[in-house]
Amino acid sequence: MQQLNNKHILLGVTGGIAAYKSAELIRRLKEQGAEVQVVMTAAAQEFITPLTLQALSGNPVHTSLLDPEAEAAMGHIALARWADLVLVAPATADFMARLATGQANDLLTTLCLATNAPIAIAPAMNQAMWRDAATQQNLSTLIAQQVAIFGPGDGEQACGDVGPGRMIEPNHIAELAAQQFASGSLDGVKLVITAGPTIEAIDPVRFISNHSSGKMGFALAQAAIDAGASVTLIAGPVHLATPERCQRINVQSAEQMLQAVNEQLAHCDIFIGCAAVADYRPATVAEQKIKKNDDSMTISLVRNPDIISAVAQHQPRPFCVGFAAETENLLAHAQQKLARKNLDMIIANDVANSAIGFNSDNNAATLITQHGQQLLALASKTQLARAAIVHIAQHFKQANC
Ligand code: C5P
Repeated sequence: MQQLNNKHILLGVTGGIAAYKSAELIRRLKEQGAEVQVVMTAAAQEFITPLTLQALSGNPVHTSLLDPEAEAAMGHIALARWADLVLVAPATADFMARLATGQANDLLTTLCLATNAPIAIAPAMNQAMWRDAATQQNLSTLIAQQVAIFGPGDGEQACGDVGPGRMIEPNHIAELAAQQFASGSLDGVKLVITAGPTIEAIDPVRFISNHSSGKMGFALAQAAIDAGASVTLIAGPVHLATPERCQRINVQSAEQMLQAVNEQLAHCDIFIGCAAVADYRPATVAEQKIKKNDDSMTISLVRNPDIISAVAQHQPRPFCVGFAAETENLLAHAQQKLARKNLDMIIANDVANSAIGFNSDNNAATLITQHGQQLLALASKTQLARAAIVHIAQHFKQANC
């Protein structure tokens, strides 16, 4: 299937040794049905000629902001509007810095400011430059601006160093570009998502809960809606706006969440358990506020129902996706959970890393099924949710055909 059929990709090429791979990237994008316009920076033209990329893309290559002839043919604003996706590959450290600071000192950066299309970059640089604090700061800024980051890969570099910073391979970049257009992949599918924490009352004013912000579950709901699904979001207490076209059911405790989920199961194709359900609740809830009469107190707790395990036993059984938030032995624990809870997929999250997980706006994860693993690199929760939904849709379709 041509996943980029009729999509307009504006390919930005900046000046790194990986620029020679842009030629192959254009072919991979076109194989997927995309129409490609190329913009090169001055430095990129030192590595590969515009003529090569023109021949491969079938369109004139754009190199200058101040070229009256090129502007007359397709001005930079028209080009910015033409794009469905701006993809910069390779993206040098310098380009990332200029993009992060909103500069418009050449055609490519100007286009990035002028476009409403999503922007994706495939970084390519020496490992020390990638690891440098300034680059990492720029990376965080770009992620916060919803720029999708493709890679970089790890390995041997042109300069002889070994480490992170290699541009990922063109076929992988083309695949990730296709994932930016996931719409329609869940048309007609009914999806139920739990999100946020649960709170378990101790007395009328106190409760047991956890740090879940609900952001990941809400981002998944939005991404699933964008992909065409009809979504019911069953949310614990969080302060987040309801995504448009989403049915939201608010609950407090695990037992209420289970009941709300059960009521949705008759028409559910995919269930995503993203909520951080409290494992235990107080055995009894005091009717009145508990007074501090003693120096110590004991609260007796009982196990809460495991919601996703119950869903996985339900007939008809939806495609079940769980989350594993772990602080150690991430992948091993996630694999065990996949089997123990009888899930189709588990998304493993390292919550010991404060840059990702619970209250962060960013996340990175490993998606695990019986058939293998897929790394979802550090990205905003919005971007990560889109990538996760693409994979969930693919696996759901495979399981149902
Ligand atoms: O067992 P653990 O809490 O680590 O499992 C996490 C996964 O199980 C998540 O998908 C979470 O939503 C789900 N879960 C649940 N009900 C519980 C506990 C966890 O649905 N009581």
